[in-house]
Amino acid sequence: MIYVTVILNYATLSFLSCVKLRSMSNEDTSELEISLLLESIYQKYGYDFRQYSKAHINRRIRNRMTLAKLEDISQIKAKVLNDESFAHSLLQDLSITVTEMFRDEDFYKSLRENVIPILKTYPFIKIWHAGCATGEEAYSMAIILQEEGLYDRTTIYATDFNQHALNRAKEGIFSNSMMREYTSNYQLSGGKEPFSSYYTSSHGHIIMNQSLKKNIVWANHNLVTDSVFAEVHLILCRNVLIYFDNTLQNKVQKLFYESLKTGGILCLGSKEGLRFTEFYEKYTELDKKQRIFKKRY
Ligand SMILES: C[S@@+](CC[C@H](N)C(=O)[O-])C[C@H]1O[C@@H](n2cnc3c(N)ncnc32)[C@H](O)[C@@H]1O
Repeated sequence: MIYVTVILNYATLSFLSCVKLRSMSNEDTSELEISLLLESIYQKYGYDFRQYSKAHINRRIRNRMTLAKLEDISQIKAKVLNDESFAHSLLQDLSITVTEMFRDEDFYKSLRENVIPILKTYPFIKIWHAGCATGEEAYSMAIILQEEGLYDRTTIYATDFNQHALNRAKEGIFSNSMMREYTSNYQLSGGKEPFSSYYTSSHGHIIMNQSLKKNIVWANHNLVTDSVFAEVHLILCRNVLIYFDNTLQNKVQKLFYESLKTGGILCLGSKEGLRFTEFYEKYTELDKKQRIFKKRY
């Protein structure tokens, strides 16, 4: 009996000495930890950041860790899972809501010259601003449509997955400090009226005119997890896809393709394009530089 036990122990020891743990670089380990964190956010809160660009996610997570004085990603994961208000702050971090009125004035100039004449041919117009943040882009569109005599026959759907940003968009109250820049953007983009005629000032803020809000429908919509929103003539999704990896960009492009009527227009941000997606052939370029595309079929 003693003899058998000795042999078994010897066998176990020699087996263990042969087992080798797969080694991982620190970089790979940290990548794995981040994917586990993103998986936890998805499982617990339903927000899916698993296919966002790694560089963007990394930057935002490290930033939140510094602010919260957390030393490693497993700590941030535990906090996200157990502290809803912390999770909310992280979700805000991951959704960058930087925006402007008439952002990239040359884009809006081109919109007036190349897109508005097409919209004029429709009896009713539906426009989707996907990833509208705090709404400045949708208000810019409403101003152009008013000036071009199209607003009364238009519905603008302005969507974002960040409810906090959407609530601010709905209010239409912005800081006075931005007005000099917005006025200049508006004028350079071909604006026809004094920009100040579109808002009233009050206590360091400006309030957008009610007449601009009346045909804007604000709605919570997640481009990653929600389906087609509506069938529309024009989609603007600017400075959003830049945060997604290639696979996710393709998936969202499919959503846009399915949401656009034939002959409909797609506007992307200055660093975004269709060239590396499977939809490139299905559009013509209306303005290559300003990333304005027309759906062919
Ligand atoms: C940088 S802002 C762009 C705002 C505006 N389109 C512009 O160009 O000025 C990006 C916006 O995309 C939104 N966003 C990011 N991921 C999203 C998603 N999965 N679904 C809907 N909106 C998303 C963010 O919440 C944010 O408001």
